[in-house]
Amino acid sequence: ALTGKGNYRHFMEKELHEHPGVIGDTLRQYVSPASRAVALPPLPFDPRVVPRLTLSGCGSAFLAAHVGRYWIEALARIPCDADVASELRYREPPFAKGGAAILVSQSGETADTLAVLAMMKAQGQSVLSVVNVPESSMAREADTPLLTVAGPEIGVASTKAFSAQLSVLACLAIGMARARGTLDGGTEMRLTQALLAVPEAAAAILEQDEEIRALAHEITRARDVLFLGRGAMFPIAMEGALKLKELSYIHAEGYAAGEMKHGPIALIDEAVPVIALCPSGPLFEKTASNLQEAAARGGRIMAFCDAEGAAALSRFAERVVVLPSVDPFVAPILHAIPVQLLAYHVAVLKGTDVDQPRNLAKSVTVE
Ligand code: G6P
Repeated sequence: ALTGKGNYRHFMEKELHEHPGVIGDTLRQYVSPASRAVALPPLPFDPRVVPRLTLSGCGSAFLAAHVGRYWIEALARIPCDADVASELRYREPPFAKGGAAILVSQSGETADTLAVLAMMKAQGQSVLSVVNVPESSMAREADTPLLTVAGPEIGVASTKAFSAQLSVLACLAIGMARARGTLDGGTEMRLTQALLAVPEAAAAILEQDEEIRALAHEITRARDVLFLGRGAMFPIAMEGALKLKELSYIHAEGYAAGEMKHGPIALIDEAVPVIALCPSGPLFEKTASNLQEAAARGGRIMAFCDAEGAAALSRFAERVVVLPSVDPFVAPILHAIPVQLLAYHVAVLKGTDVDQPRNLAKSVTVE
């Protein structure tokens, strides 16, 4: 049945295992099977001339928007802004004529995100929504809804909907880059191939469940946990921290690795696990050196990386979880899975209510 848990103990566990299928189903909507190239539906704005994009959402949906901003800026070279809807709706920023908004939401009913939608329309901005529930307000009221194909998500903490949102935003970044001529054909093909390889890599990560559970044992007694990442891995660090606090009630912070020396490093000692998201790519060396600084202060570094980076990190990290090697472009989609899985296992070990964390609601329809 649609709402059954099958052989899983929790909806969240079941939904975590749906990551590969959901990413594949979503990519099939936005990548042509014949040409294996991104094929977007008509957008409500012309990406060649749009002066600025404003991305927004709440909770994990905002964090997906935040990753989208890194991708769109880097690939399509469109100035972007990303902010949580509860702030954006009262911020009164000047909006560029001909600008557009990209609003991200699983339910399509979050009050603050809907308020931003109304504000954007009133400000003459065109509105694209990335939304999971086809009959929701955000699907109906946006000029163009781009649907994620995650199916119903029951666990209060978003999991599979998040990777589906990232999948749509990645296609959007590639499609807009093509329209603007900011990507050469070879690079476009490489990035699209990398996206199409994500479901298989996601399935391989789910096979590492035991290893991630072992890592969870290491942090169940922690009072604070720091998640670090750079670039598009920074929002994923925040996603890891958000999941851990909402599910296990352990205090966690997601920080930009390079900003650690401006504050959080003061917290570091043997009692604070540092979860590092450190895939290979242009920012690997910089992130690794931030982690080394943390290790030098007694921090217990637990790193997620790939085979290329494992040796360098093993020199100072207490644990290294080696994920499949992928193009750096798609690393944020893949790293979201083990951090969600980690939070799940910590919560199960602590005996908290995984599917219904205290004080939280699946969809926050009041301000
Ligand atoms: C709640 C949920 C989160 C979700 C957020 C935004 O806080 O617990 O998991 O990310 O709402 O919800 P939406 O439906 O707009 O994506």
